[in-house]
Amino acid sequence: MKKLIRKYSSGDREAVRRICWLTGYGGNSAAPFFDDPALFADLWCSYYTDREPQSLFVAEVEGKVVGYLLGCLDTERYNRIFARRMIPSILIKAITGRYRIRRKTLRYFHAQLGQMFRREFKTPPLKRYPAHLHINIAEGYRRGGLGRGLMESYFAYLRECGVRGLHLGTSSLHTSALPFYEKLGFRVYAAVDSVFLGKPVTNICYVKEL
Ligand SMILES: CC(C)(COP(=O)(O)OP(=O)(O)OC[C@H]1O[C@@H](n2cnc3c(N)ncnc32)[C@H](O)[C@@H]1OP(=O)(O)O)[C@@H](O)C(=O)NCCC(=O)NCCS
Repeated sequence: MKKLIRKYSSGDREAVRRICWLTGYGGNSAAPFFDDPALFADLWCSYYTDREPQSLFVAEVEGKVVGYLLGCLDTERYNRIFARRMIPSILIKAITGRYRIRRKTLRYFHAQLGQMFRREFKTPPLKRYPAHLHINIAEGYRRGGLGRGLMESYFAYLRECGVRGLHLGTSSLHTSALPFYEKLGFRVYAAVDSVFLGKPVTNICYVKEL
């Protein structure tokens, strides 16, 4: 099989958004917990694809995009842009009926916001670990080295940009991701027990120095 890790280009946007939806809940589809794939992708991908596409990488197999790494060099900038630009534009689309929002989505938001208000997502010192990332490989293409390839490309890019520390947030729902991150040299910065959609979970923040 011909495999390739390369920088993202705008033509990959739909593939990235689709993979985000298909892997969005612990590596499985977000469909049982969320109504609208477009809203899900706007929340989780649009900052990266639309505001910082130069920090993204994709994995291709036989010419098809099957995985991605959404990177961000400066999490303080991300927080600012997300709050001032992305949230308002998503809210306008929601209020004007451009998303399908039903009971599943409201339950998801309630669970997510509850965790945020209880401060169950920890962030490390951003001066030391300014970059962050999200990574997902479609089912059927995992454990073949694509995740490592994406990570190593991102680490090289961060070094070129003079960034020496990064972090990521995950949870115990992502059973395949935890050993992967540890293999790639991440260490746990914080782990907080919580409940998400009725299930006990541990929210984990990993950090790594380059
Ligand atoms: C987690 C994920 C990105 C890893 O990518 P991958 O392509 O499957 O991983 P790789 O094949 O590149 O594995 C890299 C290393 O991690 C190890 N590894 C990967 N998955 C592992 C697992 N489930 N258990 C133990 N080790 C694992 C591999 O053995 C490999 O080690 P080696 O390079 O020394 O041989 C991918 O499996 C995935 O997308 N999973 C579902 C979605 C998800 O949970 N994303 C993270 C959201 S926070």
